[in-house]
Amino acid sequence: MRLILLGPPGAGKGTQAQRLVEKHGIVQLSTGDMLRAAVAAQTEIGKRAKAVMDAGQLVSDEIVNQIVSERVDSDDCRRGFILDGFPRTLAQADATETMLAQKGMSLDAVIEIKVDDDVLVDRVSGRYTCANCGAGYHDTNMKPSVDGVCDKCGSAEFKRRPDDNAETLRTRLQAYYKETSPLIGFYYAKGMLSSVDGMADIDDVTAEIEVVLAAV
Ligand code: AP5
Ligand code: MG
Repeated sequence: MRLILLGPPGAGKGTQAQRLVEKHGIVQLSTGDMLRAAVAAQTEIGKRAKAVMDAGQLVSDEIVNQIVSERVDSDDCRRGFILDGFPRTLAQADATETMLAQKGMSLDAVIEIKVDDDVLVDRVSGRYTCANCGAGYHDTNMKPSVDGVCDKCGSAEFKRRPDDNAETLRTRLQAYYKETSPLIGFYYAKGMLSSVDGMADIDDVTAEIEVVLAAV
């Protein structure tokens, strides 16, 4: 199964992708996570991407198209993958079509997670992840069962993203509406778009996504 998760910053793409990984045994390909790993490793791409990401703007199409295309060739992507945060511009959507066709692959679904803007500040400012395994949490919406201990790996170290503040979120949202939201019409016109209510509880959003996937 190959699918795209679309939605604004804080919509729940990463949260739902982690659940799909567990349930379906497919891989989460988050361009945000890949770029953050490149920044942490201080690679050439990471050095070029850091200031852009910290400002909440989009990294160049050329960079992200290349990292996704290379990643998709890995053995662990054979069973399928979830594109989380990619494509994010119409140029990236075109490149995705060409890339998949060249690799003899096709998409099964594009799922838009719809969320009102006013909850996004709370979602991103309350978000943190396990520094060891990357499991996602939230100060109020999704706490670990034991305070300060990751449910998945037992680590007591957590981290927050430098772009998760109200000011940078405004720039990220502008980039979303200007560059990414046109993809909703793009995939709707191809008859591939399904939308789910991202304002619902996390479990209910998961259930709605499973209904979509059962029909493809
Ligand atoms: P990226 O990492 O992709 O960030 P984003 O798109 O801004 O999305 P987020 O990761 O912030 O949100 P999410 O939808 O994953 O929400 P989450 O599930 O964590 O990109 C970061 C940067 O990298 C970009 O700004 C750009 O610079 C660059 N970049 C990345 N991809 C690129 C590309 N293709 N092209 C160019 N540049 C690119 O949920 C958020 C919080 O809310 C969590 O704490 C969660 O617990 C909580 N939550 C989730 N769902 C619910 C719910 N239903 N109810 C209540 N709380 C919920
Ligand atoms: Mg994410």
